[in-house]
Amino acid sequence: MIDIHSHFLFGVDDGSPNLEVSLNMLKRAYADGVTDIICTPHYRSGVFEPDVSLIKANFERLKSENPYPVNLYLGQEIAKCRDMFGLLKSGKVLTVNDSKYVLLEFKYVEDSEIENTVLDAVYSGYKPIIAHVERYEYVKERDIERFIDAGAYIQVNADSLVSKRGEYYKKRVEKYIRSELVDFVANDMHYNREYCMKAAFDYVSKKFGKQVANALFIENPEVLIEK
Ligand SMILES: [Fe+2]
Repeated sequence: MIDIHSHFLFGVDDGSPNLEVSLNMLKRAYADGVTDIICTPHYRSGVFEPDVSLIKANFERLKSENPYPVNLYLGQEIAKCRDMFGLLKSGKVLTVNDSKYVLLEFKYVEDSEIENTVLDAVYSGYKPIIAHVERYEYVKERDIERFIDAGAYIQVNADSLVSKRGEYYKKRVEKYIRSELVDFVANDMHYNREYCMKAAFDYVSKKFGKQVANALFIENPEVLIEK
């Protein structure tokens, strides 16, 4: 499995406080059957604004100390902000694995600009992935269809699928998978969360078939790590 949204990198956001904790998180990911991880530390204006040089230095350190056969890649999870595309163009925030894909996070209470942001991203030459779409409670299925029409790819969290966040999120994610709106399932790992990719993969296999699980956990994510 390939985990495309995660906070394994230490010292840059709320994902992991230090290298030791990050290595423990990698151990849990490896035990869960993950082969490839894209580390996507937060960029949230005014909250987490890690310097790209620090992100890259800590990423190289994590890679060199990683004893597990798990490949690591780098990206960022970018909370929508006004100068986002300028920051991307100037290299102050990172795309996914140095590609045109960008992992975008939106406001949890209300955000009327998702569709416009997706359109702006596409016009700016990017391929926007909407992070954990099920967590934006104001977003309805027909909204997701519009985002996809505008050029978005859709990611949901593994813990939503295995009831760690309650039945409400599980039902939402199941509905979106059934309607073929989802491109990626990822763990969005932080040190204080469980790793549940395997449980989510098994659940999707049972409920929607192995082919769907393979697409969401392996085949679609492969596009992000192939260069
Ligand atoms: Fe995240």
